[in-house]
Amino acid sequence: MLFFGGDYNPEQWPEEVWAEDVALMRQAGVTIVSLGVFAWSHLEPEEGRFDFGWLDRIMDQLHAGGIKVALATPTASPPPWFTLAHPEGLPVTADGVRLTHGSRDTYCVSAPAYRAAARGIAGELAARYARHPALALWHVHNEYGTDCRCDLTATAFRGWLQKRHGDLDTLNDVWTTAFWSQRYSDWAQITPPRATQYLPNPAQVLDFRRFLSDELLGAYVEQRDLLRAANPDIPVTTNFVQGGWVSVDHARWASEMDLVAVDHYPAAADRNAEAETAFGGDLARGWAGGGEWLLMETGPNLIYTPGRMHAKEPGRLTRHSLNYLARGSRGAMYFQWRQPHGGAELFHSALVPHAGPDSPVFREAVGLGRTLKALDGQVTAPAQAQVAIAWDAPSWWALQGGGLPAADIDYLGAVQQAHRALWTSGVATDFVFPGRDGFAAGLSAYKIIVLPHLYLVSDEVAAALRDFVASGGHLVAGHLSGIADPAGRIRLGGYPGAFRDFLGVRVVEWRPLPIGTTIALDNGDQGVRWSERVETAGAETLVRYAGDVLAGAPAITRHRHGAGTAWYVSPGLDDDALRRLLDRVATEAGVPPVLPGLPPHVEAVRRGDLVFLFNHGEAPGTVPLPAPATNAITRRPLSESVTVPPGGTMAVELESRSDAGCPAG
Ligand code: GLA
Repeated sequence: MLFFGGDYNPEQWPEEVWAEDVALMRQAGVTIVSLGVFAWSHLEPEEGRFDFGWLDRIMDQLHAGGIKVALATPTASPPPWFTLAHPEGLPVTADGVRLTHGSRDTYCVSAPAYRAAARGIAGELAARYARHPALALWHVHNEYGTDCRCDLTATAFRGWLQKRHGDLDTLNDVWTTAFWSQRYSDWAQITPPRATQYLPNPAQVLDFRRFLSDELLGAYVEQRDLLRAANPDIPVTTNFVQGGWVSVDHARWASEMDLVAVDHYPAAADRNAEAETAFGGDLARGWAGGGEWLLMETGPNLIYTPGRMHAKEPGRLTRHSLNYLARGSRGAMYFQWRQPHGGAELFHSALVPHAGPDSPVFREAVGLGRTLKALDGQVTAPAQAQVAIAWDAPSWWALQGGGLPAADIDYLGAVQQAHRALWTSGVATDFVFPGRDGFAAGLSAYKIIVLPHLYLVSDEVAAALRDFVASGGHLVAGHLSGIADPAGRIRLGGYPGAFRDFLGVRVVEWRPLPIGTTIALDNGDQGVRWSERVETAGAETLVRYAGDVLAGAPAITRHRHGAGTAWYVSPGLDDDALRRLLDRVATEAGVPPVLPGLPPHVEAVRRGDLVFLFNHGEAPGTVPLPAPATNAITRRPLSESVTVPPGGTMAVELESRSDAGCPAG
C-alpha cells in the first residue's frame, strides 16, 4: 500500500466533523493518517488519568473507512500538569532560562520524570492499540531535536563523556583545554556549553551535540522497545527533521528505525524548491540505506520561505509528491489533513484548507490520490546512482561555531549546491555517510564521490576515500574538506591534512574573499566566497587563479592516484561553474544522466522500471524514450517520445531490462 495522508488532529474538532473527515479522506484516496501527534493533554488530562474514549472512536471510524493509522506517541508536547508537577522536566537554555509550557517541545530529555512520563503514555498506548486493526505504523514523538542545558543534562553529558573519552586526561587532550586555562581536574567541573564570556570551546560544543543526539536517540529507543514488545509486527519510526539547530545525527539514528521517515519542507518558492525536493528525497533515501523511506510531512499547498508563505501553483503539489515517491518514498504524507481554525499554526498548509474541500488544494489532492492508487504495486526498489555526495552531521555542527575564518561558511549550502549541480545536469545522486558502519565497503558502488565541506575526517574515513580513488574512483574534494580530526583538531602540515597525499596538493593559506568580491579564474569563471594558496605535490593544474596575489596559482587540480582520479576544487564556485566542472568529471568517469536528451526544465527520476518525468518549466517538454514504454498511470502504450505539459508529471514504465541510457545501477 502506498501511503497517502497526513497529520490528523481530530482532538481539535467536534466529533461531528470526524464523519466528514473520513468521507473526504475516502474521496481523496487517503490511505493512512498520523494520529495523536500532540494529543497528550487529551489522552492524559491529569497525571495517571487517561481518556482513550475519543481515540477509540476515531480509530474505529478510520478503520471502518478503510484508512490506516500511524499512531503517534504524544511525547513531544508534555501537558501543562506535567510541567507544573515536574519543573525540572522543563528545558533550560544556554542562557540559564528555564522555559515554561505554552508552546511545544518543552521538555528536557535527560530529566528522569520526563522520561518516565513518556514511557508511561507510550506504554498505555501500546497496551491499548498495539493490536488495533487500523494500526499500521507507530510514529514515536515528533521531530526529535529539543536542546536543554540544565543540571540534569550536565550529569548525563558527563556520563556520556566518560564513556567516549574514558579519562579526564584524554578529554583534556581531545578538547585542547590547554587553550584558555580550561583544564578539567574533576568531571564535575564539566557542564554543557552555556552562556560564557566569549567563544566557547568548539570541541565541547561538538561533543555536546553528539551527546544530545545519542541522548534523544536513547529516549526514542526506550519507547520503540515498549511498542515493539506489544506487537512486533507493527513497524516503529519517528519523523526526522532537518535544520541547523537539530542535534540529531540522522545517519546514525536510521539503523534504529523500522522505516526511515522524514519531514521535508523546501524553503524556496522558485525552482530551488524543486532542487530542494530532490535533495531532501535523495538524502532521506541515503539515510534509509538506499531503500524505501517515507515522506511523513511536507506542506501540501504552501511553501514556507523566510517571512512569507507561498501558495503552490497548480500541479506543484503533485510534482513535489511524486518526486519524493520517485526518490524512494513509500508515498506522500503531509502536515496536515485539516487546517486548524486556531492555535499557533492556524495558517499552516493542509489538504482541507480553511475554504473547505471546494478548493484547489483538495481537488489536486483527489487527483493525486487517484494517481497514487494507479501506481500502487508498480513502484519497486529505488534506483541506485553512480555518484554520491558525502553527508556528515558532525562536520555541519563543527562549521557552525564562531571563530571560523569566514562567517558565511555554510555546510548545508555547500552540500545542496553540489547536489543541485548534479540535479541540473540530470545525474542521479545518492548520499553516503562517513560515520556509518559499512561506509568503506559501500563506496565501491559508485564511480564518483563528492565531498563538500567534509571538515571532520577520521583516519578510517580518510583511508576508505584513499582506497576508493586507488581502486579507480573519481573523488572531488572541495575546500574545507579533510581539515580536522573527529574532535575538530586540525591535521597539521598543510590543508587538507587527511587528503593531501591522494589529492597531490598542499594548501598553505586560506584567503576567504572579502564580502561582495570575487576572484578571477583563468578559465573565465569567477571564484566566489573563498580562495586559497594551493601548491601542487603531484597534481596537475586544470584551472588557475587569475587575480589578486594568487594570480597563476593552482585553483582546480586533478591527481592520478592508483587507478583513480582525485580532483581538488579550491575556490568557491557559482552554480553554473560547479555544474560544468561536475559534468566534466561525470564525462571522464563515464556517468550518464538518467535520460539523455531531456528538454531544459524536465527532470527524470528512475525507480525500478518506472521513469518519472517532471516538467518544472512553462512550456511543454518532449522527452525521447529509450525503449518501448507504457504510461504507468493510464496503462496506454507510448510511442517513441512523450510530451509532459508545463508543470506536469508523467510516470512511464520502460519495457523491462531495456536499460539503454538509464543507469539503474
Ligand atoms: C513540522 C511539525 C509539524 C508542524 C509543521 C509545520 O514538521 O512536525 O507539527 O509544525 O512542521 O509546517
